[in-house]
Amino acid sequence: MENIQVLPMQSKDKTIIIDIMQILSDYFSPETIEFAEEKILTLTWFVAKDKDIIVWFITFENISKSKAKIYWMGVLPSYRHQWIGSVLMKQTEALLSEQWIKKIELLTLDEHPDYPGYLFTRNFYKKHGFEIKDSYREEDVTILTMIKKL
Ligand SMILES: CC(C)(COP(=O)(O)OP(=O)(O)OC[C@H]1O[C@@H](n2cnc3c(N)ncnc32)[C@H](O)[C@@H]1OP(=O)(O)O)[C@@H](O)C(=O)NCCC(=O)NCCS
Repeated sequence: MENIQVLPMQSKDKTIIIDIMQILSDYFSPETIEFAEEKILTLTWFVAKDKDIIVWFITFENISKSKAKIYWMGVLPSYRHQWIGSVLMKQTEALLSEQWIKKIELLTLDEHPDYPGYLFTRNFYKKHGFEIKDSYREEDVTILTMIKKL
């Protein structure tokens, strides 16, 4: 898709982002979605649209002057694997660099038989230069902390 662009979220986009998270229920649990709804006003959200349809979102928080944390990102299933995530990740990094952000951190799931789709996600982040910094157990899953220096 040509000319796809990162845009700031508008108030009317909120319910659609939550709808996309619900569609991506293999990745986002009901608890995560509830947490996202609670945090929707305190985090920074960006979207990208194909005509009027939101096809991608990302959310993050500036955790210090030079460090941002990505909370969630998603591409509408029919638009996945078409390079949209890659193009928009690069645009997001450029935007963060302009705000003097030097390091991006995120959490993602390690290998788990119930969540095979996260293999693509981990590879996606690795291909975008994120490295595993740490890991911890939460119930029966292992959470990875990944970082990238900009
Ligand atoms: C992870 C995610 C954001 C990546 O976005 P995306 O747009 O699907 O990713 P891209 O298309 O840019 O990824 C490029 C990959 O797609 C492949 N690809 C690109 N076009 C393709 C095509 N037509 N057919 C098949 N694969 C294709 C590329 O080969 C590349 O794979 P490689 O890196 O193994 O070579 C998205 O898949 C997603 O929403 N996943 C579910 C939610 C999630 O995991 N969110 C992150 C955790 S919060």
